Amino acid sequence: MSRVLVLFAHPAVEKSRVHIKLMKHIPAHQGITFHDLYELYPDFQIDVDQEQKLMENHDIIVLQHPIYWYSAPAIVKQWLDLVLEHGWAYGSSGFALKGKVMMSAISCGGALETYTETGRNKKKIPEFLFPFEFTARLCNMDYWPPFVIHGTHKLSDTDMLLHALQFEQMLLALAGDRISPDERKSCTYMNELFPIPKTIQS
Ligand SMILES: Cc1cc2nc3c(=O)[nH]c(=O)nc-3n(C[C@H](O)[C@H](O)[C@H](O)COP(=O)(O)O)c2cc1C
Repeated sequence: MSRVLVLFAHPAVEKSRVHIKLMKHIPAHQGITFHDLYELYPDFQIDVDQEQKLMENHDIIVLQHPIYWYSAPAIVKQWLDLVLEHGWAYGSSGFALKGKVMMSAISCGGALETYTETGRNKKKIPEFLFPFEFTARLCNMDYWPPFVIHGTHKLSDTDMLLHALQFEQMLLALAGDRISPDERKSCTYMNELFPIPKTIQS
């Protein structure tokens, strides 16, 4: 079994439609820890020691947040800047995270077709996630494909519920080591491994 840490960041969770639903479907499972950064650190005073211990005690780190300005909400950057210290996370003597996994679980207002070469955003989501991928690599972590929900403004309540169930399935599969390296390498988004019925796919 792997220990999964969901690092959640949403600066206005009271206005959220998507992540509030995802949060309700985080499984109550002993291998899954939900950690709400804005709730814990509304003043951005991150407890670096506690965050490092938390990371040491988990195997898979899931960064869960909406995409804001083609990146993450500010506290994710603050968290990365402060917690991933030289000599601990990276550098010639920094191997605390070696072999652990990092991945993103994100939602975007833009539809999938806008995140293509010919679409409005010109690049695919994994390209926008390069800073996270290369941060993970520098820290000797494996970087796995993201879980992505597109077109959030147009999602019905049913769509959101089904994405939340898909997210729940993925977290259980991560905790249960049920995603093989071949499956992981074959997908662009983790969602592909947890199909939802065609009738509601958007
Ligand atoms: C400040 C801000 C910046 C945003 N930037 C982007 C963006 O760069 N790309 C995108 O696809 N959606 C963007 N969005 C849309 C959000 O990603 C979308 O509203 C969110 O994923 C919905 O999740 P929620 O209902 O949990 O808030 C932005 C929204 C806000 C409020």
